[in-house]
Amino acid sequence: MAAEKLAVIGTGYVGLVSGACFADIGHQVVCVDRDAAKIERLRQADIPIYEPGLEELVRRNMEAGRLRFTGDTAEAVCAADIVLIAVGTPALASGDVDRSQVEAALAQVAASMNIGTLVVIKSTVPVGTARWAETFLRERLTQPVPFAVASNPEFLREGSAIHDTFHADRIVIGADDPAVAARIAALHEPFGAPVLITNRETAELTKYAANAFLATKISFINEMANVCDKVGADIADVAAGIGMDRRIGPHFLQAGVGYGGSCFPKDTKAQLKIAENVQYDFRILRATIEVNRLQRERFVAKIAEALGGTVRQMRVAVMGLAFKPNTDDLRDAPAIDIIRMLQEEGADVRAYDLVATERAARELPGVAMFDDAHAALEGADVMAVVTEWDAVKRLEPADIKRLLRQPIVVDGRNAFDPQRMAAHGLRYVGMGRGATNGKNRQTDLLV
Ligand code: UGA
Repeated sequence: MAAEKLAVIGTGYVGLVSGACFADIGHQVVCVDRDAAKIERLRQADIPIYEPGLEELVRRNMEAGRLRFTGDTAEAVCAADIVLIAVGTPALASGDVDRSQVEAALAQVAASMNIGTLVVIKSTVPVGTARWAETFLRERLTQPVPFAVASNPEFLREGSAIHDTFHADRIVIGADDPAVAARIAALHEPFGAPVLITNRETAELTKYAANAFLATKISFINEMANVCDKVGADIADVAAGIGMDRRIGPHFLQAGVGYGGSCFPKDTKAQLKIAENVQYDFRILRATIEVNRLQRERFVAKIAEALGGTVRQMRVAVMGLAFKPNTDDLRDAPAIDIIRMLQEEGADVRAYDLVATERAARELPGVAMFDDAHAALEGADVMAVVTEWDAVKRLEPADIKRLLRQPIVVDGRNAFDPQRMAAHGLRYVGMGRGATNGKNRQTDLLV
């Protein structure tokens, strides 16, 4: 692999993690952000997001002289051979994708681009964006220099972003010129992942297809869980049983309160809109989104039912605020909606999270916040599990029983073993754990 000079525009999850990982495999990387305060923090290796291992990775590569941060896009682009665009693409009120940050980045790139610069779009963008970016750049160039625009979508997950980069399932490259595709493939070579080379439109759509499919898998298993509740079946065993079929696979079949975060909710809605814009009604995706919304309501209804029909004047301990463990990200976190619904119905809510309480307090007035799980449970009428932090999963049933005012657990992530909870005298309600009240469960695999 030849070491390349990279400029990464945007220091969010994708930009910061990819920048640091590319530096770690030997490239020269400059990360750019228009937020001067953020750049100042990053220069001290003070990482603005909670991502295990990232601070050490950034520090190590800064010290090795392979990674630096600047607020000056022109300087970074001028010095780079490859420019990665990794800015945010939020949703507009219409449901369309807001490409204004991509556009602003491209405008700056056009002003400082060298001969032969390769512009790679990593942000999640609608089909046609790379082609549009090429025209946009051509129209703004002060001199007619040759350049190329390619698509290289990112598939990393928050909370395991570094692992996902070093152990990627695949690298998808969309480029019209085989030489450009080969250069991007070479850039990734040390990661050792299989590479799929295709045209730009296909690469762009592949990103949405992956997130839409994964979200659909989650909504599917959640609907199965809802049926399990009605017929007395256990979703954990159903998931294990179907997951052993290699055509289905065991991953992403964890039933619960549904998906949240900055990607699935946004990207599923964007894909629906992308289809709508070409007069196609993507029915499965529409249902996926609707099921995910209803799952949050269903969880609140389960809590009310477990408490005898209402949450009014009940103290509910919500365990976990972030949209999943190992992140402090609260964007479209199920806990936020769930807590608001509980409050509307008159509950007294207290909440636990390992890292997100400070941020959550701003969004959720009237909620007592705890970063100690035991303290959150003390005197509550019910423990409602929303995020499966290790600190929650490791809670001892005996301690839960001792701390709660009523021995009720409503587990929105199926994080606990129903039998074990029942053995400790806890009333356990899971998501689709119908017949698992401690009597006839046969989960052990007979191999
Ligand atoms: C997701 C994708 O997994 C990444 O591949 C993609 O790159 C990223 O979006 C993105 O587009 O940037 P992320 O949002 O970090 O990554 O989180 P996931 O780990 O995929 O989880 C998303 C949500 O689904 C979480 O709320 C999680 O609790 C929920 N989930 C996940 C389930 O409810 N059940 C499951 O079986 C799996």
